[in-house]
Amino acid sequence: MKNSTGVYLIGALGSIATTVAAGVLALRRGLIDTTGMITPTSLFEGVDLVDTAELVLGGCDIRRRPPSRGGSPVLEDVIGISPRILEAIKRELAQYRAGIDPGIASNCGEAIEALGGGGSRRKATLRSEIKTIRNRIRKFRESSELGTVVVVNLASTEPPLELEDCHHSLDMLEEILDGNRSEKVRASTLYSYAAIEEGCPYINFTPSNGALFPAMMELAACRQAPVMGDDGKTGETLVKSALAPLFTYRNLEVMSWMGFNILGNMDGQVLDNPGNMESKIRTKDRVLSKILGYSPHSKVKIDYVPSLGDQKTAWDFIHFRGFLDAKMSMQFIWQGFDSILAAPLVLDMVRLAELAKRRGEAGLMPHLASFFKAPIGVKMHSLPEQFRMLTDYAQYVRNGRSN
Ligand SMILES: NC(=O)c1ccc[n+]([C@@H]2O[C@H](COP(=O)([O-])OP(=O)(O)OC[C@H]3O[C@@H](n4cnc5c(N)ncnc54)[C@H](O)[C@@H]3O)[C@@H](O)[C@H]2O)c1
Repeated sequence: MKNSTGVYLIGALGSIATTVAAGVLALRRGLIDTTGMITPTSLFEGVDLVDTAELVLGGCDIRRRPPSRGGSPVLEDVIGISPRILEAIKRELAQYRAGIDPGIASNCGEAIEALGGGGSRRKATLRSEIKTIRNRIRKFRESSELGTVVVVNLASTEPPLELEDCHHSLDMLEEILDGNRSEKVRASTLYSYAAIEEGCPYINFTPSNGALFPAMMELAACRQAPVMGDDGKTGETLVKSALAPLFTYRNLEVMSWMGFNILGNMDGQVLDNPGNMESKIRTKDRVLSKILGYSPHSKVKIDYVPSLGDQKTAWDFIHFRGFLDAKMSMQFIWQGFDSILAAPLVLDMVRLAELAKRRGEAGLMPHLASFFKAPIGVKMHSLPEQFRMLTDYAQYVRNGRSN
């Protein structure tokens, strides 16, 4: 009998993780279809992917389990899921949330440490923290008799890590860990190191750059672990990467592209801290110049508006120049539930990461570029080009070839 696939979510009590769990449980009960996911479409016909409804979920979080209200889990951040569906899955969702391991918050910055009540500050050595995470992943695998366990980072965005020589060489990274140099790594580093050491496929859905840097890619190649990141592309940047090529196709010069985002969930609360915000701006900002081949005047702003909850609104203003020097503009407003947009991407990537592992692929999964704002190691940033990389991959697999 084929073993089930496990998904170990870092940030397992957060909004996206909860929506992922709700999605799997609702699919299992036949309450929803797979709208929002790309892997169940005809593009992947003939590609042997694990059944989304059969995924086994676990994970860790630095927050304590939120209290139950009248027996149902408190889903204060997740809006957009219909009460009918939540009612039907509330028992299993509560079980999922009750089984979550404690997380670690080493060198994550004040905004994140405050979420864990400040009590999760690092007391152990880096090596022993890695060992603890590895043991938890292993226990999850063994207790549910799982085959592959895909680890997905859905934790709050950390402040950027300044990358140095020790992040470019695995030997030097090992020295940093042996020397307990905690200022050179973040919690995301310890999680990804532990997951990769366990041979698990690893996805960094966050903008935290402490998770996947060149030394970690070296480790992934050694441990036969497929990996990919950074920062899921779900909203404003998704639209940007679809729209920007249009200006190139018509040789229209983009002079300015201003983006203003407001959101109210806990992600927004953490991003309200300038250090954490910096990571997000870095991944959002790169896209435009990479697609256009030049850098227009551009700013991305993100403001926290508590009353909005999970509903994100982005207003983008594009000022462009055409024939005879005429100046014109375009504006769009994007409104969406952040986690409802993100969760199906996570499920698609889990299925594709499991497939990559089964096929013996190791290191970066460039065919997942279209899912990320800043896809590591990929030069293409235009959505149509990235999407072709995904469909080409499906074609290779269908034809029984390696990528
Ligand atoms: N559309 C989107 O929502 C979207 C798109 C791209 C990227 N992201 C990124 O995905 C991540 C998750 O988003 P979210 O809306 O679910 O956020 P969230 O704030 O609802 O959830 C984050 C969870 O991570 C936990 N956490 C923080 N640090 C941790 C650590 N070191 N170890 C274990 N758990 C930790 C928190 O307690 C919280 O439960 C964020 O980094 C966000 O920037 C979100």
